Amino acid sequence: TRRCARVLQLTLAVIKPDAVAHPLILEALHQKILENNFVIVRKKDLIWRRSDSERFYAEHEGRFFYQRLVEFMASGPMRAYVLAREDAITRWRELMGPTKVYRARYTSPSTIRAQYGLTDTRNTTHGSDSEESAQREIAFFFPEFSIDQWLEKEEPCLR
Ligand code: TYD
Ligand code: MG
Repeated sequence: TRRCARVLQLTLAVIKPDAVAHPLILEALHQKILENNFVIVRKKDLIWRRSDSERFYAEHEGRFFYQRLVEFMASGPMRAYVLAREDAITRWRELMGPTKVYRARYTSPSTIRAQYGLTDTRNTTHGSDSEESAQREIAFFFPEFSIDQWLEKEEPCLR
């Protein structure tokens, strides 16, 4: 058995329609992923139906922003990644910055949402917030992806 260079964690990262609409921003975010030593395990460009949007964000149903959120997320192409890294979930969320763009600009100006976000809803990226949601969200975007098969073929050092 080979030694683990590092212990990896998986997360789901999504580049939302506001950023995919701008090729330079999309490319900058792709570079940021690479520069921060994430392994790109899977990558997919897709467009949601409104029903996908509603299902993915079901936990927010009834919140004041829910309607505009589901509408926005189904408004154009997105890019989804399965990313692997040590502490991938926390590291990707740190790179994204706070949910609300104006808070992000004020408290953490070098984050993705501070730099590229347009509004609290059109805030450029999504990232899973726990191992449980990462597992659920990876399955949502990549139903054909099997962690077990990936571990066998590519990378035995996952937690
Ligand atoms: P949430 O899960 O709270 O944030 P995060 O994306 O940082 O995990 O909310 C999901 C999305 O809902 C968020 O990315 C954008 C939208 N949203 C709004 O439009 N307005 C808001 O006030 C909040 C809290 C979220
Ligand atoms: Mg969230």
